[in-house]
Amino acid sequence: MSDRRVALVSGCGKRDGIGAAIARGLSAAGHAVVVQDIATTGVKDVNEPTSAADPDWNGVESLVEELKAAGGAAAYVTGDISVEADVARMIGKAVETFGGIDIVVNNAGAPFSMGHGEIDKIDPEGWDRVMSINLRGTFLMCRAAAPYMRRKKWGRVINIASVAGRTGSKSNATYAASKAGVIALTQSIAMDLGPDGVTSNAILPGFILTTRSLSGMSKKLGKSEIDADTIAKATPNVPMARAGTPEDVAGAVVFLASDAASYISGQSIIVDGGNLRL
Ligand SMILES: NC(=O)c1ccc[n+]([C@@H]2O[C@H](COP(=O)([O-])OP(=O)(O)OC[C@H]3O[C@@H](n4cnc5c(N)ncnc54)[C@H](O)[C@@H]3O)[C@@H](O)[C@H]2O)c1
Repeated sequence: MSDRRVALVSGCGKRDGIGAAIARGLSAAGHAVVVQDIATTGVKDVNEPTSAADPDWNGVESLVEELKAAGGAAAYVTGDISVEADVARMIGKAVETFGGIDIVVNNAGAPFSMGHGEIDKIDPEGWDRVMSINLRGTFLMCRAAAPYMRRKKWGRVINIASVAGRTGSKSNATYAASKAGVIALTQSIAMDLGPDGVTSNAILPGFILTTRSLSGMSKKLGKSEIDADTIAKATPNVPMARAGTPEDVAGAVVFLASDAASYISGQSIIVDGGNLRL
C-alpha cells in the first residue's frame, strides 16, 4: 500500500457481521477506519440474539478498542444512514478525526424480516423503509463522501449489494429490488467520479454466515436453531462446498480499496463460492 487511507464502513455493530470483518481487514491493511452503525450494537431482527447473549461485546465501541489494541487507528460514529443530517454529521466526524475520507464502504442493511414476503403480502411501509436504508442510505453516504475523494483525486466507493440484486429472491422482492438499485447506483457513480480517480464497485455476496443471515434462514424454515446440516442443504450448488464467511467478503473489499485495483470500476464482484458463474 502506498500510504494510509481513511475508510468509513457502515453497519459494523455486530461482532460476527460483515461490517466488522471489513473494518478488521481494512485496519490490518494499514488504513484508519471509522466504524458506523445506527446504534452501538446494531439493530436486531426478530430471531437474532440480543446483546444480553454477548455481554462482552459493546458493538462499535468494542470494535474500536479491538482495532486500536491491534495497532490500528480507529473511531466510531452512530447515526441513521437514511437521514441526511446524520450522514453529514458522520462524514464530518470522519473528516475531523482523520483529515479526510478516501474509502467509503456501504455495508449497512435493513433487518431481514423488514418488507419480507411474497409480492402480494409485502407491507408498503416495510418496502419504503428497506429502500430508505439500503438504497437511499447508500446514495446519501456516497453523495456526502464524493467531494472529499474528488478533491484528493483518489477514492474508493465500495457498496455491499447481494447476488439477489442480479437474480431476484423468492419472498424477498423488496430486498432484491433495493440491491439491484445499489448495483445501478454503483455503476453510475463509476461514471461520475472516474475522471477524478475514484473507482466505484459493488460486492455481491451469496450466503454468508452471520447472525442476520441465520435469523433469516430460521424465519424462512420456521426453525429456531440452524445446524450445520441445514446450512449444507441450503448451499447445495456452491462449488466451494461451504457457506461464505464475513472474512471472504472483507478480502474482496481490501483488494478493491487497494492501489492494485485502480483500473477496476463499475463492476459487480460476486463473492459466493462460485455459485453464480456469469
Ligand atoms: N449475510 C449474508 O448472507 C448477506 C448476503 C448478501 C448481502 N449481504 C449484505 O451484507 C450487509 C451486511 O449484512 P450482515 O449479514 O453482516 O448483517 P448485519 O445485520 O450484521 O449488518 C447490517 C448492519 O446494518 C445496520 N443498520 C441497519 N439499518 C441501519 C441504518 N438505518 N443506518 C445505519 N446502520 C444500519 C444494522 O444495525 C446492522 O449492524 C447487508 O447490506 C446485507 O444486505 C449479506
